[in-house]
Amino acid sequence: MGFITPNDFPSLQELYAAQLRYLLSVENQIVKGLPKMIDHADDPQLKQVFQLHLQETEEHARRVQRLIADFTDHVDDKKDPILSAIVGSGENITKESDPGAVRDAGLIATAQKVEHYEIASYGSARDWATQLGLPNHASVLEQTLQEEKHADKLLTEISHSANLAASAAA
Ligand SMILES: [Fe+2]
Ligand SMILES: [Fe+2]
Repeated sequence: MGFITPNDFPSLQELYAAQLRYLLSVENQIVKGLPKMIDHADDPQLKQVFQLHLQETEEHARRVQRLIADFTDHVDDKKDPILSAIVGSGENITKESDPGAVRDAGLIATAQKVEHYEIASYGSARDWATQLGLPNHASVLEQTLQEEKHADKLLTEISHSANLAASAAA
């Protein structure tokens, strides 16, 4: 008997399947977290962007579920600790600020960290799908990636006026 080395990801296919389960956890955590962010936001335009992205996020979760179902009948997620940490630090900002422009600036910053993390994660997943000869997976992941980029862009636009209001409130 040779040495047994722990290796959860012996192939790119397994790494990719695990990444999809992490992505499902990411989307599920956002579906849970965004309603609280909508409640805590003060700016009506920010609430609207969060609301819109909540609907997109629900669809992102469904898409990832469908991709996982191509590999297994047992579709479940794998807890993504990075997303939990980003959400946790955002909740601290909310707890330690009053409703208004400054809290909104914190909410936008948290949301943009989430979007950037999603953009990085979907970018890798899409590239792996392409390498694995799964072009239909790659195009679904690309579609979500574009929606994450769009959400990030909307948040950048709002942040300009929100940060101005936050500095005026200081
Ligand atoms: Fe998403
Ligand atoms: Fe997103």
